[in-house]
Amino acid sequence: MPRGFFITFEGLDGSGKSTQIRSLAEWLENLHEGPGAPWTRGTKNSGPAPVLTRQPGGTAAGDRIRALMLDSRSAGLAPKTELALMFADRAQAIAEVIQPALDQGRIVLCDRFTDSTEAYQGGGRELGSEIVLELHRLICGDLQPDLTLMLLPPLESSLARARRRNERSLAQTGRDEGRFEREHDEFHLRVWEKYREIAVREPARVTLIEGDLGIDEVHDRVVAAVAKLVA
Ligand code: TYD
Repeated sequence: MPRGFFITFEGLDGSGKSTQIRSLAEWLENLHEGPGAPWTRGTKNSGPAPVLTRQPGGTAAGDRIRALMLDSRSAGLAPKTELALMFADRAQAIAEVIQPALDQGRIVLCDRFTDSTEAYQGGGRELGSEIVLELHRLICGDLQPDLTLMLLPPLESSLARARRRNERSLAQTGRDEGRFEREHDEFHLRVWEKYREIAVREPARVTLIEGDLGIDEVHDRVVAAVAKLVA
């Protein structure tokens, strides 16, 4: 069975990733129902719906890591603790969700992957890229996304959106996942710059979608990149 496609979404909090993942999943499902749906490498019309997952989280253990990582009450986590937790989460997600789905020839849409660790812990927390890439090699083997959609609207609009959303979610659910949103602006600028650096370094894998674009325009660009991959 040919391996499926591994597609990741990256960007700052509030960059609109979640909306875009949902609309891409819908687009893929419609495509699947249509004639000649190009699902898996070398086969047509043969695959089930895409698998959606996210990091941190997406497994039982990962959801607990997520809660620990994102809760504002987790004060004083050392940068290397964050780094190790992210890779612990990722190792579990690869073993439990991602690799089995790819082995079945399915398309996996993953909200964040190692580029997030490079941007947030490598850039934001200033641990640098090297340690992240080395851990990726040791823990994730050679698993690389076939395509990464990197959404980078201007920093100010992402941040404003993420902070509004976190306040709303805290008021509605009592769940506070705002530990990163609360970081200062220089932290987010470093994350943003590291993302751009990754896009420039790996143009074959990363499709960079920049600027203050509307939801539909971003969707069109996402679909164009995915169509090219799965065609
Ligand atoms: P999430 O709710 O997925 O963010 P969003 O919905 O805004 O994309 O929260 C994930 C947070 O965890 C986000 O602030 C980035 C951070 N993070 C890291 O710092 N390192 C990582 O490796 C990953 C995967 C996420």
